[in-house]
Amino acid sequence: MKASASANSNIALVKYWGKRDAKLFLPHNGSISITLDGLNTHTTCAFSDKLAGDKVDIDGKAVQGAELKQASAFLDIIRGMAKTKARARVVSKNNFPAAAGLASSASGFAALALAAGKAAGLNLDQKQLSLLARRGSGSACRSIYGGFVEWQKGSKSDGSDSHAIQLAKPTHWPEIRVIAAITSRQAKKIKSRAGMAQTVSTSPFYPAWKATVEQDLDGMRQAVMAKNFRMLGQIAEHNCLKMFGTMITTKPAILYWSPKSVEILHAVMGWREEGLECYFTCDAGPQVKVLCLARDEKETSQRLLALQDIEIIVSRPGGDAHTVSRHLF
Ligand code: PMV
Repeated sequence: MKASASANSNIALVKYWGKRDAKLFLPHNGSISITLDGLNTHTTCAFSDKLAGDKVDIDGKAVQGAELKQASAFLDIIRGMAKTKARARVVSKNNFPAAAGLASSASGFAALALAAGKAAGLNLDQKQLSLLARRGSGSACRSIYGGFVEWQKGSKSDGSDSHAIQLAKPTHWPEIRVIAAITSRQAKKIKSRAGMAQTVSTSPFYPAWKATVEQDLDGMRQAVMAKNFRMLGQIAEHNCLKMFGTMITTKPAILYWSPKSVEILHAVMGWREEGLECYFTCDAGPQVKVLCLARDEKETSQRLLALQDIEIIVSRPGGDAHTVSRHLF
């Protein structure tokens, strides 16, 4: 059977950074994100006994090497659940540049979990899909749900309680805007997987990260439920800088920011002093995501574009991952 699915990417307001179990993708800490309607992956999957190996195409290019291995390992989990040995054909399309720090792995593995699960004849509910997507890329477990989402780290060693839940639907706070400022289209040198492993094992600040993240999660839950934008922005910015603090103090140091990224951070802080309420957050890459409310979307976008040499993608809170009838092959 052939099945297709669509999933949105997400931006973490309180970050997932560091695994306690690298094989099962179990995090040291919980995280909270907004699902983004502007960054979407559409994926079609079909299993066939006639295929000699898995064939995966992303944005018109055949995936090879380590990336194909990773996709096959993920498909193996689904094959194990469905008790089949059939190989898969997967075709996937992003509506944004992949591997440039815009979390293509989050929407990618969420869409693949749903499309491949259905193609394999599994009828998984959202919790099961979130548990499955997590095994492809941690942040993907949050992209199963729309709106405001928390990945609960869980405590069980088999990972059965480490999945996302929805804190609030996108309609709870539709005025939130996330403006992704793309400063570079080059694939990052150090993938988040390697970056977080290096942080956990070498940064002297990692214990401080772990000791303070619960506080950020508590505050962020409150900010989301009360629709307190200032509180949301302040915690998101602080949490992002704290994560970067752990990254730049690894051995050897990891510095994901480019000069352009830092220019945007200064600009956002300056605009805020002038009364434009916006905040930044970044992931393991040079892109900067600027948070603002609908009333300031135009002004913030214009000011970002005036900084030159960047592109922007504006997102609103997006919906759940869902199956779609349009197949890509
Ligand atoms: O799921 P991964 O392996 O792409 O890791 C994501 C890590 C961050 O983007 C930096 C933070 C997060 O919570 O999304």
